[in-house]
Amino acid sequence: MAKFKSCNCIEHELVLDHMNAVRHCSNHNMEFGGRPIIYDYFDGTNFTKEDFFAKKWELRKMFREGKCPETCTNCFHLAEKEWDDDNYIDFILLTPWAECNSQCIYCPVCTDVNVKNNTKKYDYYSVVKYMMENDFLTKETIFDFAGGEPTMYERFDDILELIFERGYKNVVIHTNGIKYSETVAKLIHHGQCKVLISSDSANRELYKKIKRVDEFDNVKETLRKYAAAQDVKPNALRAKYILIPGVNDKEEYIVEWLDMCKELGIISVILNLDFNWLIKNTDLAYKQKDMPRSPENTTLKLYDLIDFTKNEAQKRGIVTSLYGEIFTVKTLVEGEVTLNVIDD
Ligand SMILES: C[S@@+](CC[C@H](N)C(=O)[O-])C[C@H]1O[C@@H](n2cnc3c(N)ncnc32)[C@H](O)[C@@H]1O
Ligand code: SF4
Ligand code: SF4
Repeated sequence: MAKFKSCNCIEHELVLDHMNAVRHCSNHNMEFGGRPIIYDYFDGTNFTKEDFFAKKWELRKMFREGKCPETCTNCFHLAEKEWDDDNYIDFILLTPWAECNSQCIYCPVCTDVNVKNNTKKYDYYSVVKYMMENDFLTKETIFDFAGGEPTMYERFDDILELIFERGYKNVVIHTNGIKYSETVAKLIHHGQCKVLISSDSANRELYKKIKRVDEFDNVKETLRKYAAAQDVKPNALRAKYILIPGVNDKEEYIVEWLDMCKELGIISVILNLDFNWLIKNTDLAYKQKDMPRSPENTTLKLYDLIDFTKNEAQKRGIVTSLYGEIFTVKTLVEGEVTLNVIDD
């Protein structure tokens, strides 16, 4: 088998995206755009297995010929290795619904009216079932649920039951935790899923300011119940803290949040950064990384919060993983690329 440059998203992934698109990936590739499209309009019925894989092969063929679509130019996900020619999907991102019961100040889904108004519902359940029944998937395929809020989709629990019955073990659910799901708890109990919940604070007032809904008590209860369901994998539940500069980036807020996690039986947390801050402040971040520490130097403050959080978490028996743009800050300040891996 010859070696060539390609990307796992092109070879074996799919994204059911907002606005009825189906994509190879959901990655923004700097100035080249990223997120190449498989179907620009999809309603869940206008595809077959043959048609779907033929479309995947349009880009797969390009990479085998040493070419690269413009969207993928210089993308750091490209890797030179021996890629197989088989037709299967090992990662599905299910993020087609825009509905949500929260209004987080940082979220593009709830703030972009275009996404809200132009996302038409279709029967995602039948799409997943069709894929299961027509050998699209492997037993190791990862089902990654995002959204909008996945628990708002009326057949969310039905899809999870389908996954459960058929013995798929790699489910990742990004949820705000406002709506508790017995089926999610069952999957956690059986070691078949990871759940990521951004609570972003441990007090009602700050939560309300960030999420713009008064649901802190519900989220806390969901976190407690999912934590208690972790019989097989004690770190199936990951509580997430999205650092929002000027809003929740005080050390005392992080300590308060870690105390809450400990009290709820959570042993794995994720630290992230509001990606809007980095989009708006990339030039500033490049300057500030070489300037002395000061109250105005947000970049180094964020960088220092990484070790602060890790140390405070460790004191409480909690492991911290870095996720998303906080990783970019770390890489920027340290000047070298470190692998962005979530602990298993
Ligand atoms: C669009 S949300 C959908 C899933 C679910 N509603 C939730 O909040 O977890 C997908 C993921 O993006 C994250 N997210 C949304 N806006 C973000 C931002 N500005 N910076 C970093 N992460 C963000 C959310 O925390 C969530 O993990
Ligand atoms: S190379 Fe980058 S932009 Fe292209 S499909 Fe892969 S992750 Fe997406
Ligand atoms: S809960 Fe999720 S989808 Fe809803 S507004 Fe917040 S980040 Fe966006």
